[in-house]
Amino acid sequence: MIIMSKNKNSEEIYRKACEVLTGGVSRNIVYRKPFPHYADIASGCHITDIDGTERIDFANNMAALIHGHAHPAIIKAVTEQLQKGTAYTLASEIEVAFARLLCKRVKGFERIRFVNSGTEAVMTMIKASRAYTGRPKIAKAEGTYHGTYDFAEVSQTSKPSNWGDINNPNSVPLVYGTPTGVLDNVVVFPFNDIERTIAILDKHAGQIACVMIDPVPHRVGLIPGTNEFIEALYSWTRKNGALLVFDEVVTFRVNYGGAQENYTVSPDITALGKIIGGGFPVGAVAGRSDIMKVLDPREANLKFPHSGTFSANPVTMTAGYAAMDLFDRDAVLKLNTLTNKAVCQIREVIKLADVPVSVTGAGSMFRLHLTPTPPTTYREAYQSEETISVVNELLNFLFFNEKILMVNTFSCMFSTVLTQKEVDKLSEAMLRAFNALKPKIEKLHE
Ligand SMILES: Cc1ncc(COP(=O)(O)O)c(C=O)c1O
Repeated sequence: MIIMSKNKNSEEIYRKACEVLTGGVSRNIVYRKPFPHYADIASGCHITDIDGTERIDFANNMAALIHGHAHPAIIKAVTEQLQKGTAYTLASEIEVAFARLLCKRVKGFERIRFVNSGTEAVMTMIKASRAYTGRPKIAKAEGTYHGTYDFAEVSQTSKPSNWGDINNPNSVPLVYGTPTGVLDNVVVFPFNDIERTIAILDKHAGQIACVMIDPVPHRVGLIPGTNEFIEALYSWTRKNGALLVFDEVVTFRVNYGGAQENYTVSPDITALGKIIGGGFPVGAVAGRSDIMKVLDPREANLKFPHSGTFSANPVTMTAGYAAMDLFDRDAVLKLNTLTNKAVCQIREVIKLADVPVSVTGAGSMFRLHLTPTPPTTYREAYQSEETISVVNELLNFLFFNEKILMVNTFSCMFSTVLTQKEVDKLSEAMLRAFNALKPKIEKLHE
């Protein structure tokens, strides 16, 4: 049923890759059984692999490419910058211009500092929270992905055998050998569950530096945090001398001012990444100036000395400026409207195929679940091995038969270069995929 073409070039490169790269890859996300596919060229919403197959890209480098591939305005700006050097042991004017552009965009961004990845942004945000409050612990939601910093990784992949009582979820290590000191300093709570979360936080009051939230956490199920939940966390942090910090590495695309624009309260600091790099590696921390002062080298008592060889390099800053300048209010609205249209069409397709599938999401992102109603919690969204295997078959059907690239959680992260034409192709392909795998999807619910 799944038409696997030969892909000889990719197979051959992977053989060579395994001789030098562990597992043959540099990031697990690109691995695909029996071998990954290698990109040759990408432009707009299309990506062609080295075996000559062109696909429509709905993954956009895991939500990072807000304008798709090789956008002409970004390429032009970066090409000009490349002639002038790529990184200096001097500051650059473009980092100031870009900082001003981002700070103008969001009310709560009084000061900003650039780093090189979302992981580094989250790490810097957590360390700044500790430095500001003088407290050791952080609190995070079960199942959330926040990059690869030790503390941020805790309970990222909690599962039924180790997640423990929902009233007091375990702090589960991701990596073998994680020190218990790390686990002891991460408080885990259930996303969107006010009563349980406040009870859990109360037990650690006085020790928590920050409560960290991804407002639409992808791995939890791409379920938006409710306004009540965010407000409850906000008032808990006000009462207990802790900070409310947002990881908007993915969700900054949700609205002009990030997902935080959708809430009545604002975070104290925010971690950014992905889209603000215009296709290049990036991260940033932005927020209240009194907190950001912990990083200020002019302070006599500098609490958080911080550097990074490639931080704010002019290539990333130039690309980021061009990308975010293009992603203005109109562009955000247009993109979110198209994504919403896609979700409506896919819901129609689900009805037509009569399969137990549901959709969650926000802004320009959505995720499909093999459940008749959308999950509302991480534990509900959690997928068994059997479910994952059917999801992978659906993704393979779309990848090989339909020439469609999606995120491996069965999600789409749209870009501004997609049009109604690609949305129609997606929903038609989805219908064929559901029809082909309907018995397997239904079997999950027997
Ligand atoms: C919510 C969230 N935070 C942080 C990160 C880490 O970003 P990076 O991969 O740039 O280190 C990711 C990456 O996917 C993410 O999804």
